[in-house]
Amino acid sequence: MSHEDYPTDDPAVVTCGLPYANGDLHIGHLRTYVGGDVYARALEKLGQQTAFVCGSDMHGTPIVVNAEQEGVDPESFALEWHEQYEETFPKFAVDFDNYGHTHDETNTELTLEFVERMEAEGYVYEKEIKVAWDPEDDQPLPDRYVEGTCPYCGSKARGDECDEGCGRHLEPGEIEDPVSTISGNPAEYRERPHKFFRVSDLSEYLTEFLDRLEGTANARNQPRQWIEEGLEDWCITRDLDWGIDYAGEEDLVLYVWVDAPIEYVASTKQYSERVGSDVYDWEEAWKGDGEIVHVIGRDIIQHHTIFWPAMLHVVGYDEPRSVMASGFMTLNGEGFSTSRNRAVWAQEYLDEGFHEDLLRYYLATNGGFQQDVDFSWQKFADRVNGELVGDLGNFLYRSLLFAHRNWEGTPEADLSDEVRAEIEAAIDAFEAAVNDYSVRKLGDATLDLARFGNRYIQNNEPWKLVDEAPEAAAQVIRDCVQVAKAVAVLFEPLAPGKAESLWEQLGEDGSVHDAELDAVLEAPPAAFGTEPAELFEGVEDERVEELNEKLEPRVQEATGEDAASEGAAETESEEATAADSPDMEPIADERLSFEDFQDLDLRVGRIETVDPIEDSDDLVRLEIDIGAETRQVVAGIKQLHDLDELPGEKVVVVANLEKTELFGVESNGMLLAAGEQADLLTTHGDADPGEKVR
Ligand code: MF3
Ligand code: ZN
Repeated sequence: MSHEDYPTDDPAVVTCGLPYANGDLHIGHLRTYVGGDVYARALEKLGQQTAFVCGSDMHGTPIVVNAEQEGVDPESFALEWHEQYEETFPKFAVDFDNYGHTHDETNTELTLEFVERMEAEGYVYEKEIKVAWDPEDDQPLPDRYVEGTCPYCGSKARGDECDEGCGRHLEPGEIEDPVSTISGNPAEYRERPHKFFRVSDLSEYLTEFLDRLEGTANARNQPRQWIEEGLEDWCITRDLDWGIDYAGEEDLVLYVWVDAPIEYVASTKQYSERVGSDVYDWEEAWKGDGEIVHVIGRDIIQHHTIFWPAMLHVVGYDEPRSVMASGFMTLNGEGFSTSRNRAVWAQEYLDEGFHEDLLRYYLATNGGFQQDVDFSWQKFADRVNGELVGDLGNFLYRSLLFAHRNWEGTPEADLSDEVRAEIEAAIDAFEAAVNDYSVRKLGDATLDLARFGNRYIQNNEPWKLVDEAPEAAAQVIRDCVQVAKAVAVLFEPLAPGKAESLWEQLGEDGSVHDAELDAVLEAPPAAFGTEPAELFEGVEDERVEELNEKLEPRVQEATGEDAASEGAAETESEEATAADSPDMEPIADERLSFEDFQDLDLRVGRIETVDPIEDSDDLVRLEIDIGAETRQVVAGIKQLHDLDELPGEKVVVVANLEKTELFGVESNGMLLAAGEQADLLTTHGDADPGEKVR
């Protein structure tokens, strides 16, 4: 791997966290797959050789538990879902170069090789440990077969993961007050021999690895803290029938988290075997100098930044260059829940007749990748109507239609310097976004260009020029067609289907999927391919109402069930991308007088600089422009935001709060932020720094 800017000479691999093959996909799941797909396409636009791979995660207790509930064997259960996913992803233009699964031969073989190598290198040992056991049913209770209390934070947790609390991976035997999720019986602990991977020996390597790791800040910060607290060895076997058998140990299978990430390699290998290693060489990527980029949800950071790189290091493979960890998704402000039908299902979205690109755009560009994203039909409609229809669609349609009517295509003229410079700036922004691992900024690059296009056509008024000064009109429209062409190429990663339609309208040959950035400034063909048509359709208010009428009862019912079942042992496991939101704080009873509220001096601020405060785990020092002055404010957001992305952001500041000192740094004001993830409050129009918030 290099740390050079993309494109590099080495093959890249972009992966998405493998979905457990155990249930329907909803639009919350799609966030990381869309993000990965957008990113992989963007790399290809730069000319980077890229394999985009994934597969279904077939093993582990999530599958066994659900298969049991349906009374089928885990293999056919998982295969059925696998086939469904294989069909679903392409419907959202998530086009993996290879989509395998963890139970196939390629992955099984590679996994056995990995483990053999880890053993040969002296990194595996056997130890007797206590595992949860159901005394009545006389069976072991690995992972999700058991629930109890997290020993680290005291939250209710399941066997292998504190999914509602601190998010940590839990080792067998760690969970307190264990209860069987099958029978509800209190579990006891029994001694059993298991295999361990000596992760604790690798903390130095992992510390250095994290210093090199690119991607989102959360993927570096959280694991640094875990390493500081001391790494434990990792139990890599389970008492289970379903999985990859541990060589030489009859009763044990490998822990699902061992063979799952190896599928990243196996899937790349399958791709390579299909296209030929002269086209794409998986060994070059994984054992030579690959640029490996993992796109995941933030609930599985530990697996991708501790266990997985530890395994790769021991077997002598390349380490990941980057981990992009996304925030969670909520639906109308609540967590998605598969079991409670609190979801907009992937298929349901399509059945409503919406184009996949609208959702792709929404998911990829709604806030930074690490930020949590809420979906509601209203917000969806607002962004489609405002940005896709209003900015992008409007520019394209008015300029191309005008071109078609007056010149039957692209007018003859050379591209003006002004517009060339504007397009070049958009290309630069696109490249910077790729190197920043920011799919949102990829979207901004195109939208900003389209907004420029709108201003350009508006200011130059070609409709007034066309009769008296036809050459001047031709120049303006010639420029606009070039901007449209640039939009087609630059927007392809986000909206591949729409970009292809635009490409056809422009009369371009071949597919926009194959066009790279150097095509952006090439002259467009003289004749259009098809008559210009509007690219995006708006979502009317009535439509939103209709959609809400279908969705809201479901959300409310599910939320009511949450409240009703609080405290009771639940047997269903929520998927992690959609962890239920923690209990809401009750609304305060006591009312505030309006005068009291007015005492608060809230101001719009713009972040100028952000510096981490050394020695503090979460504090940063910010300089915030609040109009009349620039304030120094200390805030606890180090782990929660990509600090590089903050300068320029608008925030809301409490300007008349008493000064205080934190870690020896004066804080002169307070930032407003929502929820556990410190989602920063901002303005949505063009309020200037210093303006009062009321
Ligand atoms: N199936 C896991 C989950 O949904 C993710 C596996 S990702 C991999 O949490 F790294 F193991 F491949
Ligand atoms: Zn916990």
